[in-house]
Amino acid sequence: MAQPEDNLLKKITAHAKEYGFIFPSSEIYDGLGAAYDYGQNGVELKNKIKNYWWKAMVQMHENIVGIDASIFMHPATWKASGHVDAFNDPLIDNKDSKKRYRADVLVEDYLAKLEAKIEKEVAKAEKRFGADFDQAQFLSTNPNVLRNQTKIDEISHRLGSSLEKGDLADVKALIEELEIADPVSGSKSWTEVRQFNLMFSTEMGSLAEGANTIYLRPETAQGIFVNYLNVQKSGRMKLPFGIAQIGKAFRNEIIARQFIFRMREFEQMEMQFFVKPGEELEWYEHWKAQRMAWHKSLGLGDDHYRFHDHINLAHYANAATDIQFQFPMGFKELEGIHSRTDFDLKAHEEHSGKKLRFFDHHTNESYVPYVVETSIGLDRMFLAVLSSAYQEETLEDGSVRTVLKLPPALAPYEVAILPLLKKDGLPEKAKEILAELQFQFNCQYDDKDAIGKRYRRQDAIGTPFCVTIDHESLNDGMVTIRDRDDLSQERVSIQSIQSKIAEKTAIESLLRKL
Ligand code: GAP
Repeated sequence: MAQPEDNLLKKITAHAKEYGFIFPSSEIYDGLGAAYDYGQNGVELKNKIKNYWWKAMVQMHENIVGIDASIFMHPATWKASGHVDAFNDPLIDNKDSKKRYRADVLVEDYLAKLEAKIEKEVAKAEKRFGADFDQAQFLSTNPNVLRNQTKIDEISHRLGSSLEKGDLADVKALIEELEIADPVSGSKSWTEVRQFNLMFSTEMGSLAEGANTIYLRPETAQGIFVNYLNVQKSGRMKLPFGIAQIGKAFRNEIIARQFIFRMREFEQMEMQFFVKPGEELEWYEHWKAQRMAWHKSLGLGDDHYRFHDHINLAHYANAATDIQFQFPMGFKELEGIHSRTDFDLKAHEEHSGKKLRFFDHHTNESYVPYVVETSIGLDRMFLAVLSSAYQEETLEDGSVRTVLKLPPALAPYEVAILPLLKKDGLPEKAKEILAELQFQFNCQYDDKDAIGKRYRRQDAIGTPFCVTIDHESLNDGMVTIRDRDDLSQERVSIQSIQSKIAEKTAIESLLRKL
């Protein structure tokens, strides 16, 4: 069933709460903005995503190892990385509504409206010309499209260069010239634009007087950079090699919205790949292809992904792209792949006074390696999986079922064990089967309500298989196995349940596609 986009996100949010995937944080106190808790089913799905990433990135590569660095780091880390001075968002307040916005987002929303106008023109022309429609020619010749495209290019360029120069007065001037109004009140009375650092800070007692401000890490990457030499030496690693990490990151996002898409506390799965200088762009292309293959192996829909190459590169990068995913609110960044040169290691060398180099025995040279980074938000990946799995399906009998068609290898439970009745020895037999399957799978046991209702409950949490034990099972050792997706029911022997489920749900089936 096709759904309007914001409606779909609302439905997914409600479904995630009702079925124990995600709850608003501290909900009994009315929640806390942009903080969420993963419930009993959410944590299973999240762990499986982590496991698939870790297996694919770390355990399937002999030259990639993992670490788990602490969230608190020496404050000099964040001076060296540039986060103290430059990890800012430009903010603006509306004087009438007193609402606060990101100035760049106000302009980007304005640009999105111009883009929507172009898309509307294209759709109209497509309808008019039918099969003869040549989109490329239309985009390069239609006067309305050209006018709007020129406007988009000019505004993007001006916004990009003002932000880069730190010319916040010009960002405000741009908002005023475009007559952008507060989306809530319609007022155009704005304050000056000012920079707001996104790092959360706190105090640590044991540091020296005056230097006791420490930060909650805004990315996991720096924990990897500061451990580069520890890992290289203790693991006797040779270039090229990678260090991976999964962990929490914290950003004081001003506009945190769209459910778990942008949160103040979130998790990242990052990998820094250290290479010989000069080889970084080859490895950048390699990791672009690898990461896209990882995403596509999950079968969420190949047309749900696209690369979005950065045109305005950060000063430390010589190539950067985002893997965007088609979320319910449109194509948005899911993962970043960045060729970060030797910026981070060099900065840590300067600030720490320690050498962070690699000695190349072949050439007898010592140099600071270059780095290619892959960085994906675990919560965004969770939303990508959940939103593409959510379906409302009309069945042959006209009833509607809500089903999560999760990739079977990621489903919270691989199988549900359902005795047809709660008597006649059926629960005992079902528990016997459960006890055996639990060694290999995450199983649910459910003996309440009619079997149809129990199937629906499993559909709603995405369980790929249900095994039903009936009176016949006690005599012939056969059970019914029901498939979540095609609703087929097959009679199989109790001994063969394990291999049937494993065939479809093992993570190995995904890894073999890479
Ligand atoms: N070390 C590089 C880095 O942190 P980033 O583009 O700022 O790069 C990487 O973040 C990924 O982390 C993003 O692609 C996104 O998936 C995720 N992410 C960033 N901010 C987030 C937030 N506030 N909430 C949820 N995920 C976030």
